[in-house]
Amino acid sequence: MADKPSFYITTPIYYVNAKPHLGTAYCTILCDVMARYKRACGYDVKFLTGLDEHGEKVQKAAEEHDMTPQQWCDSLAPDFHKIWETLEISNDDFIRTTEERQVKAVQYLWERMREAGYIYKGSYDGWYCVHEETYFTDTQVDKADEEHGTEGQHLCPDCQRPLQRVQEESWFFKLSEFQDRLLALYDEHPEFVMPDFRMNEVRTFVEGGLRDISVSRTSFDWGIPVPFDDGHVTYVWFDALLNYATAVGYGDPSMAEEYARRWPAQFHVVGKDIIRFHCVIWPAMLMALGEALPEHVFAHGFLMVRDEETGQTRKMSKSLGNAIAPQDVIDLLGVEGYRYYFMTDCVPGEDGGISYGRMEQVYNADLANSWGNLVSRTLNMSAKYFDGKTPELPAGWETLDNPLRSIADGLAERYGAAMDRVAYGVAKDEVMELVHAANHYIEDSAPWAIAKDEARADELVQVMANLLEAIRISAHLLTPFMPETSAEVLRRLSLEDEVETDDLLGICAWGGLKGGVPVTKGDALFPRLQSDDK
Ligand code: MSP
Repeated sequence: MADKPSFYITTPIYYVNAKPHLGTAYCTILCDVMARYKRACGYDVKFLTGLDEHGEKVQKAAEEHDMTPQQWCDSLAPDFHKIWETLEISNDDFIRTTEERQVKAVQYLWERMREAGYIYKGSYDGWYCVHEETYFTDTQVDKADEEHGTEGQHLCPDCQRPLQRVQEESWFFKLSEFQDRLLALYDEHPEFVMPDFRMNEVRTFVEGGLRDISVSRTSFDWGIPVPFDDGHVTYVWFDALLNYATAVGYGDPSMAEEYARRWPAQFHVVGKDIIRFHCVIWPAMLMALGEALPEHVFAHGFLMVRDEETGQTRKMSKSLGNAIAPQDVIDLLGVEGYRYYFMTDCVPGEDGGISYGRMEQVYNADLANSWGNLVSRTLNMSAKYFDGKTPELPAGWETLDNPLRSIADGLAERYGAAMDRVAYGVAKDEVMELVHAANHYIEDSAPWAIAKDEARADELVQVMANLLEAIRISAHLLTPFMPETSAEVLRRLSLEDEVETDDLLGICAWGGLKGGVPVTKGDALFPRLQSDDK
């Protein structure tokens, strides 16, 4: 392991009091696809997800349910483990901010911040939104009130819920001192914020001037205690952001080696609503601590529901009655169809307009009619013409020109370039080009006609080998999106030992097919959906 380069990727840690939903699943699958792809490229991947369990919101929810906050968190955490398992999430670690390792790391952070002189005690007087766990200034609130016409009621600029006025003694983090260093970071590392159009938003915000932020609370106690000041607990975001470092051993001498190897993270994947925390506050915290900065913060858009009649998209919400639960999608498309649809049909950086109609269309067109059909026709023919096996392959078969080989040449590299910039839809198009070409190749070469003519036996071998090889390569490249079906396809070709690879480029080189080995016809991978199935 140690000789492989490290690749560390994280999801946001989810607030424990909302059940996992399509949005949180979207972000988690997005990371999973990257983690699986990087593992296949030979990286030693650490993929972290987890739960954000402190803060006023959790404390209140627990009170409403007559539980202690810890009991409340413990009662909800299993839902996350369960859905991630169902969705084939391959995380290597799962952090909960109530764990001992996080408590220790946060307390270590406080000590380091104090030593470095980046915190001071003052008093906070301003607005707070419990739902967003975010502070707002009078100016921000006035502006939002004006925009939304709230008639004297002060509502959260982000979620429009009523705000609290908070007046309390508090520790402050000197964020205002980091403006220049943050702007220099954005100039020197434009790839720090991805996709690039999000960078403008971050930069404009920082150029507008930064205020010191309140990072401790005294009016409730569900948080990590400030080690040197009784009665103060850590502001939930000051705690939550640190989870990424905690999980690789920040502040833990027994994990010094791991920390040196893993930190900084390569990718923090987050929703567009929380980029300020990740692209402004978090790098400033790390600068204050003298720690290295993550390489990329990738911000994905929001999933919006598209109305099939009007074509308009709207935010998903229970009150609008358009909320879709992960299980509803799993019931319709299966887990792999689910992953494929969200990862290839929504552009990761932008808001995605989702609808059941579109899900069905993509599933039927790409998975049932193209990929599934190609596998089933080809494996059936192979079994039929070669006695339940793949053809015996003559020496040099892989050197002969054919339309599939010319697409497959350089395919893994083109696909990889798209995957590296999280352009999953583009990567999928590259693979689908091969799949579509293979389906056309079946029609054009008509193996069933060749099979009738003994004089054309060599040609039949070549045509079937080309098709099976196109399938083998496609299965590998589709693995990050649909790990189980790809593994199944490889097993059906007696290639089980190839399922886990750490040399994606090498394994996708044309010519890796095994000749004369059993093929399994198996059931349809993606049975076609009829509209009334949903
Ligand atoms: N706890 C904080 C994150 C702390 S990270 C140090 C938080 N949690 S959250 O549960 O509210 O949201 C987690 C993620 O889910 C965010 O990245 C958010 O963008 C994402 N989503 C919530 N609704 C969404 C959609 N409808 N679509 C896509 N993702 C959305 O914020």
